[in-house]
Amino acid sequence: MMTPLSVVILAAGQGTRMKSNLPKVLHTIGGRPLLTHVVQTGHSLGAEMIHVVYGHGGEHVQQALADFDVQWAHQPRQLGTGHAVEQAMPHIPDAHTVLVLYGDVPLITADTLRRLIAVSRGDSLGLLTATLDDPTGYGRIVRDAAGAIRRIVEQKDANAEQLAVHEINTGMMAANAGRLRVWLSRLENANAQGEFYLTDIVAMAVADGVAVNAVGPADNIEIEGVNNKRQLAELERAYQRRMADRFMLEGLTLRDPARFDVRGELRFGRDVVVDVNVIFEGSVTLGDRVYVEANNVLRDVTIGDDVTIHPNCILEQSHIGRQCEIGPFARIRPETELAEDVKIGNFVEIKKSTVAHDSKINHLSYVGDTTMGANVNIGAGTITCNYDGANKHRTIIGDNVFIGSDTQLVAPVTVADGATIGAGSTITRDVAAGSLTLSRAEQRTREGWKRPQKKPK
Ligand code: UD1
Ligand code: CA
Repeated sequence: MMTPLSVVILAAGQGTRMKSNLPKVLHTIGGRPLLTHVVQTGHSLGAEMIHVVYGHGGEHVQQALADFDVQWAHQPRQLGTGHAVEQAMPHIPDAHTVLVLYGDVPLITADTLRRLIAVSRGDSLGLLTATLDDPTGYGRIVRDAAGAIRRIVEQKDANAEQLAVHEINTGMMAANAGRLRVWLSRLENANAQGEFYLTDIVAMAVADGVAVNAVGPADNIEIEGVNNKRQLAELERAYQRRMADRFMLEGLTLRDPARFDVRGELRFGRDVVVDVNVIFEGSVTLGDRVYVEANNVLRDVTIGDDVTIHPNCILEQSHIGRQCEIGPFARIRPETELAEDVKIGNFVEIKKSTVAHDSKINHLSYVGDTTMGANVNIGAGTITCNYDGANKHRTIIGDNVFIGSDTQLVAPVTVADGATIGAGSTITRDVAAGSLTLSRAEQRTREGWKRPQKKPK
């Protein structure tokens, strides 16, 4: 039987070196706060409860995680990592295994943590340690001649021999809650930093005859924390590479996984190709055989099968039907629904509109607050004038309508099925089905007219 698990995430630190007004754990990786990555990993381990120890920017942190199932423990003053864990202990039953994680160490994986929990079974203390070329700054793992872990010594408290050790404490550990409670109550702060060190429980475990077992991460990136913007960017890239690798193994073709960004959830069908510099935000679903060409931003959209998105488009909160072709240089704004086989060309903006199948808006147009039928052709430079300065009005366009170039449709207005509008028209009244409507000055010609000439020098 699995021992119930309580996760404690330390997140009370200020993060001064981020040089930001935002609490450190709210800076994002993959578009989500650092802390939420750790919370989700904790949930994926099947934790019964996740306790977040917070301090700086408390309300903001709580607001940002309002949708997550976590228990909050306040640590108003940062008296050390041991003191921080203690703040969560009153809510944790003795029989639980406690797993200590960090809100600023976002890339730790569930696989590594399962191994850590496994070595804490049977009344042992599990430590996640790593061997680094440069261990500077970290607590060092002190082992005896037989190789057994004796204690952890912090960089600032270490002697020369201890400083030469390359095995470091990542800070993540797993222990029985009852044991941990007793050890934490015995911590003292007589050390170089005057803090209650969580790491001091290791020597206590040894003194109590509790086995101390170490495991390592699959990859050292998992144990890296964020202290400044440079580390944030490094972990962002590592996260994106991890996502790219996962998606490629699931069949996604990425022209260059180093130039791929997902900031949310991406689902895709078979034989989908994504060219370079595409950003997926929020929740994006791509059907089969979708081709996303270079430099696109897709935010909260669903894209049907066989759609091609040419370079340099922005699509938001919209549904794109199968076999549509979008762009280059198109902007699809929220609440747009395109049915099958619709073409949206260059320098076209569509907002809050539905477009039925086989319609084409190919060049330089604005279509907003519009319901458009099937087989419609919208000429270049057509504008729906949907806004009178106070209110938005709808434009209704029937099936098989042909709208000539440079037309203004002044809403509210209806162009019924099969109507034709001549180029350059300003349409202010409803247009009947099957009619031709023009609203432009008659063309006049003056034969033999001479253009003024410059005087010869
Ligand atoms: C700690 C470990 C060290 C380890 C290193 C890994 C201790 C005493 N030392 O050192 O062995 O190598 O992490 O990065 O544990 N925090 C709180 N409340 C506090 C103090 C800290 O929430 O009162 C949080 C911080 O926000 C931070 C984390 O705990 O996320 C680590 O704290 P920090 O003071 O940076 O510990 P280190 O000195 O790095
Ligand atoms: Ca640190």
